[in-house]
Amino acid sequence: MKGKKIILGISGSIAAYKIPMLVRLLLKKGAEVKIVMTPSAASFVSPLVLSTLTKHPVLIELSSNETWANHVALGRWADLMIIAPASCNTIAKMANGICDNLLLAVYLSAACPVMVAPAMDEDMWNHPSLQQNLLKLKSYQNIVLNTEHGELASGLIGFGRMLEIEKLITEIDSFFNTKQRLKNKKALVTAGPTYENLDPVRYIGNYSSGKMGIAIAEILANEGCEVLLVLGPTPLTTVHTNIKTINVRSAQQMLNACMTHFTETDIAVMSAAVADYTPITVSDSKIKKNDGEFTIQLKKTTDILKQLGTIKTSSQVLIGFALENNNEKTYALKKLQEKNADAIVLNSLNDEGAGFAHDTNKITIFEKNGTETNYELKNKKEVAKDIVEKIIKLCL
Ligand code: CTP
Repeated sequence: MKGKKIILGISGSIAAYKIPMLVRLLLKKGAEVKIVMTPSAASFVSPLVLSTLTKHPVLIELSSNETWANHVALGRWADLMIIAPASCNTIAKMANGICDNLLLAVYLSAACPVMVAPAMDEDMWNHPSLQQNLLKLKSYQNIVLNTEHGELASGLIGFGRMLEIEKLITEIDSFFNTKQRLKNKKALVTAGPTYENLDPVRYIGNYSSGKMGIAIAEILANEGCEVLLVLGPTPLTTVHTNIKTINVRSAQQMLNACMTHFTETDIAVMSAAVADYTPITVSDSKIKKNDGEFTIQLKKTTDILKQLGTIKTSSQVLIGFALENNNEKTYALKKLQEKNADAIVLNSLNDEGAGFAHDTNKITIFEKNGTETNYELKNKKEVAKDIVEKIIKLCL
């Protein structure tokens, strides 16, 4: 972000009180920031604080007695305009070309990309007019960020909270740092565990957190790829403009979601820890204990990766995982061949710091053409970058 010129447009929403922290972090990363506010934003955050931080005057009015704010020059100066928080009112005006304040004049004359971070109460967020307006902004190629779920100014809990500042920084970072090499590509990523129900209160599951798959989805999305994340039951989530999440629970639900979307996919990464077996019968009522032993009969689930391998076309890239603790290479190569994948990412449980419960992972990638690439132990985000680099090569 060093040397990047950013115009930060602040509109009237309670989330504006967080903006000085955003400014501080942008400056710390080496960006130059100029601020434009709507008149109502000044009730939520002090222009004096912002002008002191940015070392530039904060612009609110199109003109005062002697000066005229040159909105065209501002719009041409910036590498990126961020509107955060973007209130329902400001979004409606942006979508419809209304120009009754300086922020809107700068937006309408901005020659640079525009990123929008909405903030409002959930009922406003869900209103069809707001959603239509966001679609309009997207059609103008504006980068529209999601909102978060959480406590709102009204005291209600729901969607509509502006993205947390750290996540905004991640979005801005990825805007400047990636080359969007997967623009116009679509990916399907599975992540997390699956839970197979035994009765209304019990299930068979596994320790997968979904961290690895979510990290892959995020790196693909940063490269401009449109990602569909099929996520098993995990408390982890992700917010990214390019990621749509389908939450599933069982192996069958994960299979159904993958089968529905695979044909429209260019890249499929099967990183979920899918149950290999599921109970033959699921009891409608809670199973009661008795004196004897209890046996559960299981049947095989469908292997999703293998199923996709049988229908994949030569233009689709299919990546699988293998989690092994003995004969790792032999099993990984067997999976590569039997599941018709283009590459298998091997995690060995024998490597310290690798596997389900860790923030780190150590992988080896085996490709169909015989290439074997070994990587060091790394943070899962860095591992995801290595995997996506391989995917990009396979896509070319
Ligand atoms: N996989 C899948 N559907 C299943 C089982 C596995 O899509 N029902 C995928 C996983 O997402 C992973 C790969 O297959 O990409 C390998 O999973 P793994 O559990 O390592 O191997 P299995 O094929 O299940 O074989 P085993 O458990 O015997 O090692």
